[in-house]
Amino acid sequence: MDPHAVKKAVVVGAGVMGHSIAQVFAQTGIEVNLVDLNQDLLDRAEHLVRNNLETLAEFGRVASEDIPAITARVHPTTDLGAACQGVDFAIEAVAELDDVKRRVFGQLEAACPQGTVLASNTSSLEVFNLLSEVKRRDRVVVAHWFAPPHIVPLVEVCPGPETDPAVVEFTAGLMTRAGKKVVVMRQFVQSFIVNRIQGLIAMGVWEMIDNGWATAEEIDLAVKSSLGIRLPIVGVVQTMDFTGLDLIKDIRGDESPPTILDLVAKGHLGAKTSKGIYDYGGRTETEILKKRDRRYLKVLELLEAIDAFEPI
Ligand SMILES: NC(=O)c1ccc[n+]([C@@H]2O[C@H](COP(=O)([O-])OP(=O)(O)OC[C@H]3O[C@@H](n4cnc5c(N)ncnc54)[C@H](O)[C@@H]3O)[C@@H](O)[C@H]2O)c1
Repeated sequence: MDPHAVKKAVVVGAGVMGHSIAQVFAQTGIEVNLVDLNQDLLDRAEHLVRNNLETLAEFGRVASEDIPAITARVHPTTDLGAACQGVDFAIEAVAELDDVKRRVFGQLEAACPQGTVLASNTSSLEVFNLLSEVKRRDRVVVAHWFAPPHIVPLVEVCPGPETDPAVVEFTAGLMTRAGKKVVVMRQFVQSFIVNRIQGLIAMGVWEMIDNGWATAEEIDLAVKSSLGIRLPIVGVVQTMDFTGLDLIKDIRGDESPPTILDLVAKGHLGAKTSKGIYDYGGRTETEILKKRDRRYLKVLELLEAIDAFEPI
């Protein structure tokens, strides 16, 4: 299974995600059949793809003269059976409903060649429990993209209990070939990495809004002008190395995560000891902070320049 040998793919569902996933494959030079239930939805998808490509061209991410060839590689159709003929990779981006996913996987199983990898873009469903119609479950995998797929780099790849490791490697390779940043999960966990974190954030947000503790605008301003500057540079894990793991232990007390307790016991407190969750290779605290702060200031400059603290 060579991701570079993939010539033809099918994307089922041409909505918010599907049209843009198909576009990314087309930009990669892959012929892609894009399936939806009626012609109006497909016409809308074609229109959106053209519009997306024009926006990318404004930013030099696509050459304007390449747009006709890219759009010509997207083949919209309502005929799922025909769309699966000869495809190397299939991905469904249909509604997040058990019955719909189960039916589509059955149709993909029936229509795709034996060796085709069948991927799901599910955000949170246990798709591996919806494969009653699929015999070769070893070829089913999650490839979870982020909206809008033609801009956001990440794809989370996640195997089910029966997925062949070669299928995982192939899928990760294909996503990389399509220019994506790939994170491969060790096993299926509900919502994968990002939506798991986002779900916890959303719970906190609705608690604040519903209790009237802060307005939507205040919460967004607070987050954009704090986490918004730090997140792109130190993520949600490395940031703790800058807080200080000893402080986190003091704050969390008995509820401290075992990893934090272990690191603190070893004297690995974060940037200040040149080792914490990350290893800073013996660099001094000032060196580490200077590197971090230069990046923070670049982000701040950009956010100010584009008025990012104002709502869209
Ligand atoms: N919207 C997001 O931000 C986002 C992000 C990541 C993952 N996802 C996941 O992607 C999937 C699709 O989400 P979406 O937001 O694009 O939904 P959407 O409603 O915009 O699009 C789904 C499309 O699938 C089509 N469809 C439904 N049943 C079909 C069938 N049997 N055959 C062919 N087409 C069919 C619908 O007509 C619709 O156009 C879901 O599993 C969702 O959880 C969504």
